[in-house]
Amino acid sequence: MKTASIILAAGQSKRMVSDTPKVVHKLNGKALIQYAIAAAKKAASDTPVIVVGNGAELVHAEVGDQAVFAVQSERLGTAHAVLAAESAVAKDAELILVTSADMPLLTGETLTAIVIAQKANSGPLTLLTVHSSNPRGFGRILRSPNGEVSAIVEEAQATPEQLKIDELNVGVYCFKAAWMWNALPQISLSPKGEYYLTDVVEVAVKAGLKVNTLVMEDEEEALGINNRIHLSEAERILRRRINERWMLAGVTMLDPNLVYIEESVTIGKDTTLLPGTFLKGKTVVGERCTLGPNTIVVSSQIGNEVQIGPALIEKAIVEDGVDMTTFCHLRSGAHLGKGVHMGNYGEVKDSYLAAGVKMGHFSYIGNAQIGENVNIGAGTITCNYDGVHKNPTEIGENTFIGSDTMLVAPLKIGKNAKTGAGAVVTHDVADGEVVAGVPARPMKKKEKSSG
Ligand code: UD1
Ligand code: CA
Repeated sequence: MKTASIILAAGQSKRMVSDTPKVVHKLNGKALIQYAIAAAKKAASDTPVIVVGNGAELVHAEVGDQAVFAVQSERLGTAHAVLAAESAVAKDAELILVTSADMPLLTGETLTAIVIAQKANSGPLTLLTVHSSNPRGFGRILRSPNGEVSAIVEEAQATPEQLKIDELNVGVYCFKAAWMWNALPQISLSPKGEYYLTDVVEVAVKAGLKVNTLVMEDEEEALGINNRIHLSEAERILRRRINERWMLAGVTMLDPNLVYIEESVTIGKDTTLLPGTFLKGKTVVGERCTLGPNTIVVSSQIGNEVQIGPALIEKAIVEDGVDMTTFCHLRSGAHLGKGVHMGNYGEVKDSYLAAGVKMGHFSYIGNAQIGENVNIGAGTITCNYDGVHKNPTEIGENTFIGSDTMLVAPLKIGKNAKTGAGAVVTHDVADGEVVAGVPARPMKKKEKSSG
């Protein structure tokens, strides 16, 4: 059965007190609307239709072509919002899943379950309910003495008796399409001046049709985001889900409340994450590593047996056995080969440090290719920028760069060469050559005669 999905997102989200639409606010690095789209795509066959209000450019920009947009130009309630989607929904859809954009913890599995329930149901709709002692403003499910659903009453209209009902309307529905398009226009205006989608239940009941329910087990999934407190609650729940998954997959966390892992990250077993570790974007961490405390890794590849102290690592590659002590900064394009050692306050950008390079303290390496086992003395700087261009530096294997060397690029230093402490190197240095001074000059003849 072809199933279409509609995601309601035309609310004003005043309670966020923000210039940004609520559904573009981020939860664990990803916009709320992305969670709704991903879940809807798991359950329905078609590209979702998102109902937005006027001026939803930021939502468009976030979503791009992952969904079709329908505009509800007046905010006249949830039933009105679904009707606004009519022309955008595929005509041949037999079932319609309706969900809202501000419930990021709802899983694709739950949405799939309600679609399956409705496929097996002869009646016109299935609605998702949850039992909870914390009603959070949700509508209450009214059932007649024989247990059948008779209505949904909104909290604002509920009597004190009805407020005690602990079965709540999650706000997710699966309808027979033809029935729904016919039923929605029959809904009358509520006392609040809105057309409530929940009143569709009464339309069914009046026609003598049975309303089916699917009761959700995990009430956390129903958490709706209306303000930034809810956002932080969702953040905590999501973080716990992710961290528990990685701990069960063999990752040690000293304090999982202080480890922040985005969904797109993967981590090998026997790796330890210390407090304050943030793993973001498409980061891959290998096995038997120790990261942290206070390490931020963004879209980087970290090999096996890597030790990283407090650090910021962005779009970098770190191979097996690298050890970075404290306060290192790898910027975009940094690539550390096997067993590289980086000490305090090193910065590397757009450079390859081959296996065994040692870069002890306070150095900046940019736009450089460094050969195997080169020693980079403290305070060494590649002067790679001449005010207009970024210029490259090349250093051959086993070369020893003395402390405080300024490598004025473009520059080539051969293998087994040496620079003296404080040298300002402005000309290429041959294999085996030793240079020192300002500007640096050869100290002695090369071992091999130059020919
Ligand atoms: C709605 C349900 C309530 C349920 C709750 C669960 C109705 C009348 N009530 O209440 O029974 O327990 O969800 O979260 O449906 N929206 C539009 N256009 C509108 C109005 C709303 O697109 O004109 C969108 C909102 O952006 C939101 C969703 O519909 O994504 C739900 O609207 P909201 O105002 O949050 O409804 P609730 O009061 O939460
Ligand atoms: Ca809501």
